[in-house]
Amino acid sequence: MPLITEKVLVGQRALITGGNSGIGAAVARAMATAGAKVAINYVSNADAARVLVNEIRVAGGDALAVEADVSREDQVQEMFQSVIQTWGSLDILVANAGIQWDAPFTEMTLDQWDKVLAVNLTGQFLCAREAVQEFLRRGVVPEVSCAAGKIICMSSVHDIVPWAGHVNYAASKGGLLMFMKSVAQEVAHQKIRVNGISPGAIRTPINRAAWETPDAEADLLKLIPYERVGDPMDIGHAAVWLASDASDYVTGTTVYVDGGMTLYPGFREGG
Ligand code: BGC
Repeated sequence: MPLITEKVLVGQRALITGGNSGIGAAVARAMATAGAKVAINYVSNADAARVLVNEIRVAGGDALAVEADVSREDQVQEMFQSVIQTWGSLDILVANAGIQWDAPFTEMTLDQWDKVLAVNLTGQFLCAREAVQEFLRRGVVPEVSCAAGKIICMSSVHDIVPWAGHVNYAASKGGLLMFMKSVAQEVAHQKIRVNGISPGAIRTPINRAAWETPDAEADLLKLIPYERVGDPMDIGHAAVWLASDASDYVTGTTVYVDGGMTLYPGFREGG
């Protein structure tokens, strides 16, 4: 995996929800390598957050860990206040925290539905609202970035690919797609950019069962035309680009980082 070498995010402060594992941790590493200060949010496994903060500091970066359940308004507000107080402001939000709690549709409990929607969709609303308020308060600082702020909503290929057995998750991501576009439309004139990243199958704890045995991985690869499971840093690179001024004219769009999973691979032959 090639490393980010250009410090395109120097002077910027990023908050990454769910930054202590999987895709979020890779985004934190990538943004720190690109020169940003990174606040790593976590709701459980504080040790993983601390270890990552330490790793980034040892490598010469600046990082802190901040606890909050993104589905709780009071905790989200406290988290933003503490990061903004520490670093003066915020330039980038990566709304990444997400969960799966799968069940066949007829067996899905209201709790399973509510919890997944609360974290994956309401959590994005609560965090993005705080971020936009701060971006508007501060406005554009041209030495730092062309934009007053950037939001990256971590979605999934399942914002457009239906997913049996995962109705709550797919509904949350489908909702997130329209959430992202509507916020982007509302705040573009205020020089705030809002985009999505939709990962395909990335090798992380959330989908361990899909890749951990050779048989499972072989089945998974049938869905991926590029014939490899994604690496978390594939998403890290896309996030750095979307947060940097290199993508200054990009807003309200989704980058699918999925090895072609959304290309209807079953149609390569036949149809
Ligand atoms: C899910 C993974 C899944 C991938 C591709 C992701 O959004 O969290 O479990 O492997 O989509 O289906």
